[in-house]
Amino acid sequence: MAKSKIAYFCQSCGFESPKWLGKCPSCQQWNTFVEEVIEKGNASVPAWKPASTSQQRANKPVQVADITYAEEHRVPTPDKEFNRVLGGGIVPGSLVLIGGEPGIGKSTLMLQLALNMPHQKVLYVSGEESDRQIKMRAERLSPPPPPKGGAKNSASTNFDDKQAPPLGGGGGGACYILTETSTQNIFKQIESLEPDLVVIDSIQTLHSAHIESTPGSVSQVRECTAELLRFAKETSTPVFLIGHITKDGMIAGPKILEHMVDTVLQFEGDRHHVYRILRTIKNRFGSSSELGIYEMMGEGLREVSNPSEILLSHRETPLSGITISATLEGMRPMLIETQALVSTSAYGMPQRTATGFDTKRMSMLLAVLEKRCGFRLGAKDVFLNITGGIRVEDPAIDLGLAAAIISSHEDMPIPFKTCFAGELGLSGEIRAVNRVEQRIAEAQKLGFNQIFISKYNLPASGQDKKRMDLSRYNIDIKIVSSIEEVFGLLFG
Ligand code: TYD
Ligand code: MG
Repeated sequence: MAKSKIAYFCQSCGFESPKWLGKCPSCQQWNTFVEEVIEKGNASVPAWKPASTSQQRANKPVQVADITYAEEHRVPTPDKEFNRVLGGGIVPGSLVLIGGEPGIGKSTLMLQLALNMPHQKVLYVSGEESDRQIKMRAERLSPPPPPKGGAKNSASTNFDDKQAPPLGGGGGGACYILTETSTQNIFKQIESLEPDLVVIDSIQTLHSAHIESTPGSVSQVRECTAELLRFAKETSTPVFLIGHITKDGMIAGPKILEHMVDTVLQFEGDRHHVYRILRTIKNRFGSSSELGIYEMMGEGLREVSNPSEILLSHRETPLSGITISATLEGMRPMLIETQALVSTSAYGMPQRTATGFDTKRMSMLLAVLEKRCGFRLGAKDVFLNITGGIRVEDPAIDLGLAAAIISSHEDMPIPFKTCFAGELGLSGEIRAVNRVEQRIAEAQKLGFNQIFISKYNLPASGQDKKRMDLSRYNIDIKIVSSIEEVFGLLFG
């Protein structure tokens, strides 16, 4: 046995150092170094080795013009939201990381995908749950829409067989479950099964015989990912990795993997709400600002193709403190309900809480309303809430929130079927937002009567007016330039 080698790894960014350090020179975090035993090259079992002998082949430079590739070859999944975040489907040979907090639904999402891939042999490797647990979960998941023949997911599963048993699946594919954590054993099974798609749940549970440290440590996670990356590229088999991250993103793993993988998806949402958002953080094969929305049901995740309709509550009478904002998540317009509650503070210290919205930005909104419009909010408790448990960073909801705050403060409801899209500047001006036409179109589609937008969204007089023709919308577009003007129009 070779002499074991010890190194220290920053658990935050993966920086490697031969000796222990108090502060990481790379990410400036304190107390993040952990000793790990690494031992390279003495393992008798090989890492991923392709059947062919092309492994040692050295690449030669080629001219870009000489590189041929088959016209955009992607495998679409039955899940439209998932296709959207991937940029149109699964790219062969891609390595995709799906990160998220424990319990958010990563295993559910991936298992659902694995069960429903049409005409594909999927290997689902789990290091976290037993095959029986996975079977139980699979039973809960809603069966895929029955194929034309009408046959439903046949439960021809035999778990006494130690080999990965097929769970059956919709659309003619087959899903095999393998409960294993050693990468060498996984590759052995992959070689005999030859799957079209591999899912690893999760990367933190894997270990490679080439490295001595424990599963989940920086060096293990990195080595296992490197092996899977090699496998994916050499066989053109797409691999999905599930990775856990905690609230502050501190756990070793996904953070340091982001640069190794082709695509990083983040599954997020409030565990107490039913909506989950799958966000593209990085994508070598598509836009990185895409977003998929799901609803967590008793029988698995359901795609939400029209988010606006569910994020709006259907009230009979208008209430004060509630407005609708036209926001954009990625490329996707969405109408959301923005709520505010302003009440007299019972204690000396007024409370300010925002759910789904940045607290600093809320303080800014309150300061603008106080200074520019003369509302006395200093001694008031203010609570803001974005319904549905989603988090919005789009500044275009400023105007809707400001209107909600004043509506609650004055106890005057905002007229029905009114929505807002504008950013609030420090002087109380309403600033332009991006893709305003998409927002207007969405509001019109959902039957709104009027929308408030910034004057600065209109092209300057000298410019080509054709570029933005508001007359083609049959929704009342209120063009405003300052917050006072908005309140004048709303509350008279
Ligand atoms: P899971 O996929 O195990 O999360 P992760 O792999 O990210 O840790 O999902 C866990 C939660 O999802 C669990 O609290 C139960 C819930 N759930 C449902 O609500 N409906 C379902 O059909 C399934 C399978 C899970
Ligand atoms: Mg899981």
